[in-house]
Amino acid sequence: MSGININSVNLNDKSLSISYSNGKIIDYNYFWLRDNCPSAFHPQTKERNFDLLSINDNIRALEFEITQDSLKIKWSEQDHLSEYDVNWLKNNAYNEHYSNFLMMPEEKLWDSTYQPAIFNYEKVKDLDSELYQWLQYMCHYGLSIIDNMPSNDVAMEEIAHRIGHLRETNFGIVFNVQSKPNPNNQAYTSERLPLHTDLPNQETPPGYQFLHCLHNEADGGESTFVDGFAAARQLEKDNKRYFDLLVNYKIPFRFHDEKCDIREMRPVISVVDGEVNEIIFNAHIASTFNLPADIMYEYYLAYRAFIRILNSPQYLIKFKLEGGQMVVFDNRRVLHGRESFNPQTGKRHLRGCYVDRTEFKSKYRKLKQSLAV
Ligand code: OGA
Ligand code: ZN
Repeated sequence: MSGININSVNLNDKSLSISYSNGKIIDYNYFWLRDNCPSAFHPQTKERNFDLLSINDNIRALEFEITQDSLKIKWSEQDHLSEYDVNWLKNNAYNEHYSNFLMMPEEKLWDSTYQPAIFNYEKVKDLDSELYQWLQYMCHYGLSIIDNMPSNDVAMEEIAHRIGHLRETNFGIVFNVQSKPNPNNQAYTSERLPLHTDLPNQETPPGYQFLHCLHNEADGGESTFVDGFAAARQLEKDNKRYFDLLVNYKIPFRFHDEKCDIREMRPVISVVDGEVNEIIFNAHIASTFNLPADIMYEYYLAYRAFIRILNSPQYLIKFKLEGGQMVVFDNRRVLHGRESFNPQTGKRHLRGCYVDRTEFKSKYRKLKQSLAV
């Protein structure tokens, strides 16, 4: 609304309405205005320290004064005066701008024709502009590759720390994916890993996953990926009832070994404000379904229909990571897996870690602000 002026202000019973020169009339509720009076915020921390119960239900503006830059209000109680910046009022016209708050770029769904972009390790490590480009790309597609990574035990963390804190889990801050004696997890065998998202049994499954390939010389071991959001939309199109079942019913997930017993119940598809915002799918640690008896058969039909879409040639992409490449993906959107490999034919070793979505988004916003892009 830049370049737009205020034509008039009208005091109503519960709100004041501002009529702007572009013809829009925006209502600003009195609670909302009082709650956002500049005096309601601590001057240093910028955090709100206003007690909402210190005002009455019927608080109202008694008088106002409008200039080019500010709107002053005299309130019906406590002799309180508020002064609002007119630009702030325009930018926070809540029925106009509410959806901008998160400042995130929109997701771009993909299918099997998609080729993830390759970013350069040195550039992402050293240049804020490249880091920003990469983070923006990740918000759009949820999957990318970083190449020219040195084959050492610090390069992955260097990139992850460019964004923020690493997420520690029961597998540690960093985990090594290799076939191991006495594995406590199917990833630590040489067997095929069907498509899955990691750690669905956690209260909040990790956001982004990093897998740095140090060695991939064994026969097999190709990586598979699918855009779970695209697959969920396909299921919705094919069969809305099946989609709704995966949204509305929770299923149990469990990991347990000598040290822990981590369980959670959650739906396979989560929808917020009509948008798919999380896919949780992991058949190897899904526990025994405990759904209502009259739902069980249909639920399995829906679940199998989703598995079929995930694995269909329309959506699945497959490529073999090379030593020196790192794949990074949104673990609550993009499902990943791998083909079996033959450990007799060569070495296969990936290092992994997680960085939560919060860290990614925060860094993206800070770079967007500092680079003014
Ligand atoms: C994992 C995993 C994939 C691979 O460790 O969670 O999915 O390529 N690994 O080994
Ligand atoms: Zn995994």
